[in-house]
Amino acid sequence: MRIILFGPPGAGKGTQAKKLSEVFGIPHIATGDILREEVARGTELGKLAKSYMDRGELVPDDIIIRIIEERLKREDCRNGFILDGFPRTMAQAEALDDLLRRLNIKLDAVINLEVSDDEVVRRLSYRRICKKCGKIYHLMFDPPKEDNICDMCGGELYQRDDDKEEVIRNRLEVYRKQTLPLLKYYEEKGLLININGERSIDEVFNDIIRVLESKR
Ligand code: AP5
Repeated sequence: MRIILFGPPGAGKGTQAKKLSEVFGIPHIATGDILREEVARGTELGKLAKSYMDRGELVPDDIIIRIIEERLKREDCRNGFILDGFPRTMAQAEALDDLLRRLNIKLDAVINLEVSDDEVVRRLSYRRICKKCGKIYHLMFDPPKEDNICDMCGGELYQRDDDKEEVIRNRLEVYRKQTLPLLKYYEEKGLLININGERSIDEVFNDIIRVLESKR
């Protein structure tokens, strides 16, 4: 199964991708997570990426395309993958097509999670993430059992630097201008599946599974 999870910031891409990755046994590849790891390690790439991410702007295409190219060629992607947060520009979508052609593989579906701006702000303002295992929580909708502690691994929870309201608003603006046009691109390829993302995590998940099963 080769899937792109599409949608605005905070639509639930990471949350759903983690669950799908477990069910299908295929890697969850999130460009945002890869960049945040570089930032945490203090690499040159991380320093450069942070200057864009903190403002809610996109990191330049050539950097992202190189990261994805290297990642999709790894052995664990042979049976499939879930892309989360990539592609985000037309240049990235075209580079992905080119890479898939060279690897002789095809996408199965582009799942678009539809969520309103107000819901995005509500979700991201209360998001917390485990520093150790990356599990995603929401303080109201999906809270940890113990304050600030991950249920899965006991790690400490943190809030992302770009989850401040003014940065969230800019991320939404950037999404509208640079990423939203890709929907038409994938619709014309017959790959687009729209899912109402404004329901419970389990309801959204069951809906995604239902449409993916019908494609198998
Ligand atoms: P990235 O990390 O990709 O962020 P994003 O796309 O803005 O998406 P998020 O991770 O914020 O949200 P999500 O949809 O995964 O939602 P989540 O599941 O966490 O990118 C960050 C930055 O990196 C970019 O701004 C850019 O600078 C750079 N970057 C990354 N990729 C790039 C690329 N390809 N090109 C250029 N630059 C790139 O859920 C959100 C919250 O809601 C959580 O608290 C969760 O618990 C809760 N929640 C989820 N589902 C539900 C539900 N159904 N009901 C209630 N709550 C829910």
